Amino acid sequence: MANISTVYMGLELKNPLIVASCDLTSKIEQIKKCEEAGAGAVVLKSLFEEQIETETEDLIADSWLPNHTEAFEYVRGMSMANGPSIYLDLISDAKKKTSIPIIASLNCVSPKWWIDYAKQLELSGADAIELNISVLPSNSERNSEEIEKIYFDILEGVLGEINLPVAVKIGPYFTSIAKILNDLSKKGVNGLVLFNRFYQFDIDIKNLKAIGGNPLSSPNEISNSLRWIALLSDRINCDFAATTGIYSGEDVIKQILAGAKAVEICSTLYKNGIGHIKNMLEEIKSWMSEHDYENIEDFRGKLSKKEEEKTELYDRLQYIKALNKM
Ligand SMILES: Cc1cc2nc3c(=O)[nH]c(=O)nc-3n(C[C@H](O)[C@H](O)[C@H](O)COP(=O)(O)O)c2cc1C
Repeated sequence: MANISTVYMGLELKNPLIVASCDLTSKIEQIKKCEEAGAGAVVLKSLFEEQIETETEDLIADSWLPNHTEAFEYVRGMSMANGPSIYLDLISDAKKKTSIPIIASLNCVSPKWWIDYAKQLELSGADAIELNISVLPSNSERNSEEIEKIYFDILEGVLGEINLPVAVKIGPYFTSIAKILNDLSKKGVNGLVLFNRFYQFDIDIKNLKAIGGNPLSSPNEISNSLRWIALLSDRINCDFAATTGIYSGEDVIKQILAGAKAVEICSTLYKNGIGHIKNMLEEIKSWMSEHDYENIEDFRGKLSKKEEEKTELYDRLQYIKALNKM
């Protein structure tokens, strides 16, 4: 019988399927369902920086506080302590009612809140923290170093406060993705999650307005994280988790062959139901039996790019041959 357990950031997971941070992990009933379906771990729905800020701003707007700096800081502190307390309760409830690792998730766009708050997540019993850091590089005056500094400041602040494993989940918008991932690993991050799929943008041509795009990915979106994990998992000393476009057991096998220790899935569960986790696990086990693999480590990274690798497939961006048949 194939053993599909894996160790991700030092956490022992019974299998590599982690339910990604999304609304399916925002309530205890759903988290229990994820565990029942066989998930190896869950990442809780992120606590958003804006959530705390909005609560704080509302509170302050309703009062005479803006002119009184000391009082302003006090109310801001109170809001930090009370608003996110629901999140802390969710962590302790999930720890009491399930036996899988619970990874808390903070959505950060600046270092200002999270350094204090990360400590509270640890005290509530979280097994690890995933920092969902997202800075859209749309400011034409801000250079890449300034943007990357935000990532490093958040990470360093959090690492300095807690003793839990910390993952950073990022999007693909970097000038040098290999360099920033390497730098994050040197600063001590335990897990790199590639790549977040951000809120999509679309345009409604009937009503002539900007709208949100499809929130769910499609299976052909797997290629980006697959390529980068295959390219970097042997070169960067850190655990990789893959996310975006992972729909089936076959997709999980591909990511492990590329070098991932775990995968984070979301859209496939919205489309196929939480019970789909079971099908994915069965598919992985039967493929491992067919190939005589007893453990995940027997094939993990088998298709990551090795130093001596001659093939250009991993690095190729341009098509040489045209698609003449179209
Ligand atoms: C409805 C919805 C809510 C999400 N909320 C979060 C979130 O709070 N934090 C986060 O890091 N990612 C969030 N995500 C992104 C997912 O965690 C995941 O990384 C992304 O959807 C790509 O994986 P998929 O292709 O399996 O959907 C959300 C995705 C969806 C569809």
